Amino acid sequence: MKRLWDKGEPLDEQILRYTAGEDHRLDHRLVPYDIRASIAHAGMLNQQRLLSDEDYEVICTGLLELERSHEAGDWDISLEDEDVHTALEIRLTEQIGAAGKRIHLGRSRNDQVLAALRLYLLDAADSLEDATQSVASALEALGERDGDTALPGYTHMQQAMPSSVHLWATGFAAELRDDAAGIAASRRRLSKNPLGSAAGYGVPGLPIDRDTTTRELGFDAVHEPVTAVQLSRGKAEATLVFELTLLMQDLGRLASDLLMYYTQEFAFIALPDTMTTGSSIMPQKRNPDVLELVRGATATLQAALLEILQIPAKLGSGYQRDLQRIKSPLFRAIDLAGDSCDIMAHLIDGLEFIEENIVLDASIYAAGRANRIVLEEGISFRDAYRRVAAELDAEDDDED
Ligand code: ARG
Repeated sequence: MKRLWDKGEPLDEQILRYTAGEDHRLDHRLVPYDIRASIAHAGMLNQQRLLSDEDYEVICTGLLELERSHEAGDWDISLEDEDVHTALEIRLTEQIGAAGKRIHLGRSRNDQVLAALRLYLLDAADSLEDATQSVASALEALGERDGDTALPGYTHMQQAMPSSVHLWATGFAAELRDDAAGIAASRRRLSKNPLGSAAGYGVPGLPIDRDTTTRELGFDAVHEPVTAVQLSRGKAEATLVFELTLLMQDLGRLASDLLMYYTQEFAFIALPDTMTTGSSIMPQKRNPDVLELVRGATATLQAALLEILQIPAKLGSGYQRDLQRIKSPLFRAIDLAGDSCDIMAHLIDGLEFIEENIVLDASIYAAGRANRIVLEEGISFRDAYRRVAAELDAEDDDED
């Protein structure tokens, strides 16, 4: 018996390859989470007298051993296994014998995959939140380091008002901290226990206890009713990836500013040579590829979000295999957002503003001048505005 649903007939190789798709490669990261959920499930079965103490013991030991050997690189999920759930149960049964076959009582891969995914996503949300906070901290440190350095504030890419490195950096930092709060808020949809919903319609005829696995796994609540569970697949995923898309947008806009500041025409910033790349033909080149790749990553996040939203969008209720396709854009988005945070924090630590190259146009103080006239003379802002505009025109004519 190769797969959990195997009834003894062979499976067409081409069908296996297509239906398993990328699962055997993608599910790698779910191994520890499927094991945690399986141990909680086995504990519940034991508590409900549906699994003997001895079987429960060997199942736990066997699963923990599989976790250890997987981490050590001794085995991996193969195409033949189809997915993480099958891979674990088959190896468990090989290892501990008949007891391994008892673990699947009262569950289905449909609730199993959601349990493993949610546990994984809760951890992933934690580390993405931390990674986002690290970029914010790097920006705040930059704002301290080069804080007094003046910087033109731009609107329409035209010098608008005086700003500073501190103001520029802390603006991005504040938005990133808000993105981190958005990531944390995605826990609301993640923290519901799908276990016990089985294929999507519960477990008739068995006294299972969904509260026990909820407590054991640290979920906030049982996901109820059982028919809601499969309807929810993709929604917590979309919530998290939506927040990551906003995060990536902020990183992309930060990269965009830095790319402009790094041009020879601006030369507002310097990057360590070790952080730039070269050209195969132009010996002088020091290219800011990292920033371009971060800017480009926004597209990947947006596309992943769209994919995740569209896969379940028109499905009728109940589990359908389409849902499996959510994993690929989900993991792609998580990995890229995390890596982009890490590289940006690293790059910002090495970045310096070159104060002498930053020249603020004299006209940039015009709004401040108008405001002062209002305070000093008590005239309306509109009149003060016109007077300053006229004075600036006259100064321009004098120069010509
Ligand atoms: N790999 C599958 C998924 O991610 C696991 C669930 C399979 N269930 C099934 N009934 N074929 O959706």
